[in-house]
Amino acid sequence: MKYDLIIKNIKTAYTLKNGNIPRIGDELKNLSPVDGLSVAIKNGKIIEMGKDMNFSTEKVIDASGLIALPGFVDPHTHAIFGGNRANEWYRRQLGESYLSILKSDGGIIDTVSKTRMLSKEEMIKTTEVKLNRMLASGTTTVEVKSGYGLDHDTEIMMLETAKELNKSNRFDIVSTYLGAHAIPKEYKEKRDEYVKLVLDMLDEIKGKELAEFVDVFCEEGAFTVEESREILSKAKTLGFKLRIHADELAESGGSILAGEVGARSADHLLRISDEGIKAMIEGNVAAVLLPGTAFQMGGKHVPPVRKMIDKGMIIALASDFNPGSCPIYSLPIIISLGVMLYKLTPEEAISAVTVNSAYVVDRHSDKGTLEQGKDADILLLDANDIYEIPYWFGDMHVKYVIKYGKIVYEGDRYE
Ligand code: NIG
Ligand code: FE
Repeated sequence: MKYDLIIKNIKTAYTLKNGNIPRIGDELKNLSPVDGLSVAIKNGKIIEMGKDMNFSTEKVIDASGLIALPGFVDPHTHAIFGGNRANEWYRRQLGESYLSILKSDGGIIDTVSKTRMLSKEEMIKTTEVKLNRMLASGTTTVEVKSGYGLDHDTEIMMLETAKELNKSNRFDIVSTYLGAHAIPKEYKEKRDEYVKLVLDMLDEIKGKELAEFVDVFCEEGAFTVEESREILSKAKTLGFKLRIHADELAESGGSILAGEVGARSADHLLRISDEGIKAMIEGNVAAVLLPGTAFQMGGKHVPPVRKMIDKGMIIALASDFNPGSCPIYSLPIIISLGVMLYKLTPEEAISAVTVNSAYVVDRHSDKGTLEQGKDADILLLDANDIYEIPYWFGDMHVKYVIKYGKIVYEGDRYE
């Protein structure tokens, strides 16, 4: 067969090909490394992998001295937004709390005003710029939430933006409707009506296939457990998969609700209780860990990560990229923080941004491992081993990012 691309002589390919999906417990540490591997690609897929193979092709990448990994999957971002909140960020450094700023119409509400001002073209352009930066840091598949429109038209525009950008072969986007991100200013005195708007929009979003997941920010200052249950229950009936922002600023009851409604994941979990852990395990709910956010919020509260892994919870890592609680879009930085702040091993952190994060967004049959038949989304790094990923904080040595068998980003060699 004539292939489109051959990557030959990879120093070490961390294939993650052996083991259950999702990985739990000690399985998270096995990255199935293979030395001296070559990979043959055609029509965007990995067709063959092996050593000493006779390949016929036009294009060859000599990967001697490079390590290979599956393209990273970021399973939790708010990458569509207008403006930024650098001023608020500094107010928080001086001691103001995230919640008090949100309650006084700053925070999410401030980004809502800036996002509503964007035209569709501007929204697509600014999001594309962000996604390209993520791509250069190794993110080849990304979940993107709405939630900075909080009115019918802007929420729909955000989801249409994600759909439009997903047409590109440069990145895969998984869309999530997060109408229940905050109560917008104009509904402050009539929150029931806003919840009703979110409930009504679910039908339209399903009908137009604008989102695959529905998420709720279940937290003091955002949505109560009862409101979250109502929204998620209807979403489930309509066939959406579910996510929850849970137990971040307080123990909100969100992780228990996640178990009850059978959410795919509960995310944040800085203040999760033993009861929450039990409910999530029983409901087979993945824990999406967001150490960038914990770090940006002061780093004092972190989830009981080791206990969660030892108890057999499914864990994944994500950036939570957003203009408020986490302006970090780079998964390599998140991996560093996962190791330094959450005490994951580098191997666990890699499983958490590949095979397990692909599972969270339901892309594990095509993404998250390097094996025959999967999409050719591959990172080639100028590094000796995966320990260099968290070590070079903020500067992972990317040589090539390959998406569907095409080079979409190329960096410099370091020697
Ligand atoms: O996941 N917690 C809710 N949503 C985001 C923050 C959004 C914002 O501050 O703009 C988060 O942290
Ligand atoms: Fe979030």
